Amino acid sequence: MPLVNAKEMLTKAKAGHYAVGQFNINNLEWTKAILLTAEELKSPVILGVSEGAGKYMCGYKTVVGMVNGMLEELGITVPVALHLDHGSYEGAKKCIEAGFSSIMFDGSHYPIEENFAKTKELVGICNELGLSIEAEVGSIGGEEDGVVGMGECADPDECKMIADLGVTMLAAGIGNIHGVYPENWPGLSFETLDAIQEKTGAMPLVLHGGTGIPDDMIKKAISLGVSKINVNTECQLVFAEATRAYIEAGKDKQGKGFDPRKLLAPGTEAIKAKVKEKMEIFGSVGKA
Ligand code: 13P
Repeated sequence: MPLVNAKEMLTKAKAGHYAVGQFNINNLEWTKAILLTAEELKSPVILGVSEGAGKYMCGYKTVVGMVNGMLEELGITVPVALHLDHGSYEGAKKCIEAGFSSIMFDGSHYPIEENFAKTKELVGICNELGLSIEAEVGSIGGEEDGVVGMGECADPDECKMIADLGVTMLAAGIGNIHGVYPENWPGLSFETLDAIQEKTGAMPLVLHGGTGIPDDMIKKAISLGVSKINVNTECQLVFAEATRAYIEAGKDKQGKGFDPRKLLAPGTEAIKAKVKEKMEIFGSVGKA
């Protein structure tokens, strides 16, 4: 199946009280691992690409070529969206041109009026081309490609203002943080999430910083309108751990000697297991 935008899968998720996982990709192995797992579990999936990862993978056109090639060569039948993660205004336009099926414009660091104006322009372009678009209100904590947010809670009225522009999905800060949560993290603000959901109605809400949020909080967030959950750091951690174990056991020096395909295999398997675990928690298994 060719790339799809994320609208239908998220509308179904919101109505069915589950969430679609967005897993960030960094290279061929990660992409293949995520696609194969989604296919095996018959789950819709969103491949997230940060601007940094896009640069690393030789630019957005290369990413589009790689993903489209894999969808065909691996015989993927489940819905897959290719989504720019935390895009700048310029990055969003580049991804639209390169053939992404979905973009996120993160204008959360602009004054709300500027976020509103830029999001509005991009919504117009995406609607015309049949792409889905995610907007953000209230910056999400931690570091994402050099942008540091403080984990603030979004203002529900501002969320409504941006949702009413016709975005497909809305990321709203509810105390979530990218990366590993600090020990003294107070948890998600369900009060804020509830108020945002109240104001934005059927709009699928997005939970960033999916790494390390306890399962019961994830389930409660889904029950309060979260339909897309982003996971990146957890995949990075298991990939690094599996690769390190392989090297420390001296396995990279066995047999015919150094083979990059063998070296990356344990990390790739670890990502498959992690994606499976997350899809089960999010409830998206069998929903393709
Ligand atoms: P984590 O790295 O905390 O899983 O967050 C990923 C994310 O939100 C990407 O936008």
